[in-house]
Amino acid sequence: SHGVTTAAVCVYPSRVADAVKSLKAANSSLPVASVATGFPAGQTSLKTRLEEVRMAVEDGAMEIDIVINRTLALTGQWEAMYEEVCQFREACGEAHMKSILAIGDLVAMMAGSDFIKTSTGKESVNATYPVAIVMVRAIRDYFLKTGHKVGFKPAGGIRTAKESLVWLTLMKEELGDEWLSPRLFRLGASSLLLADIERQIYHHVTGRYAAYHQMPMA
Ligand SMILES: *[C@@H]1O[C@H](CO)[C@@H](O)[C@H](O)[C@H]1NC(C)=O
Ligand SMILES: *[C@@H]1O[C@H](CO)[C@@H](O)[C@H](O)[C@H]1NC(C)=O
Ligand SMILES: *[C@@H]1O[C@H](CO)[C@@H](O)[C@H](O)[C@H]1NC(C)=O
Repeated sequence: SHGVTTAAVCVYPSRVADAVKSLKAANSSLPVASVATGFPAGQTSLKTRLEEVRMAVEDGAMEIDIVINRTLALTGQWEAMYEEVCQFREACGEAHMKSILAIGDLVAMMAGSDFIKTSTGKESVNATYPVAIVMVRAIRDYFLKTGHKVGFKPAGGIRTAKESLVWLTLMKEELGDEWLSPRLFRLGASSLLLADIERQIYHHVTGRYAAYHQMPMA
């Protein structure tokens, strides 16, 4: 009602159909995103991972988050990784594809990722600024080389509205205003972050912080 919404709702593939149905029933135009490809570890066969992507898209997911095969990255098999990401891209069809990685970002961009994402949120180390700088500069280099704009999504462990401002500043400083829009920038929001943002909006509107019972808790 305030025109402030999340950019998408992200669910496991098996819940895409339910999420699409529920949002439709609520007359919501929020897109459903899904983590596919054996998220978070990616330890299923390529065939299974591709099938998972296709099924999520068939069920109505507009955005697909993929995890890369880390062995390929760690052993420098960039061509094999490129081939794999290309296959995911094809399986995504019309859906936007986000690649979750901290390394090998240029490869994933070349293979057609619309977004790159720092983490699954399940690693012991989450989105950190030093890694983010490397990734957003890779996005900038790639844009300067190809004219193609790839989006960025820090994820995992982002808990406060204040931290989200740091991320926004980083995007603005490194990539410019265009990378502040949901088309090119997303925050992996935990319920903690959402609650804090609601808290800060409440403060902005009323000049005071809400009592616990006034908060729409997740
Ligand atoms: C659903 O959303 C559309 C577009 O925002 C609006 O015109 C319509 O009145 C809504 N319908 C209901 C039942 O809320
Ligand atoms: C990842 O790549 C390695 C090296 O090619 C391969 O041995 C392994 O089976 C792959 N993992 C998956 C889950 O496909
Ligand atoms: C990373 O993020 C996850 C999910 O938000 C959280 O459970 C975990 O504690 C975080 N780890 C660190 C090191 O912040």
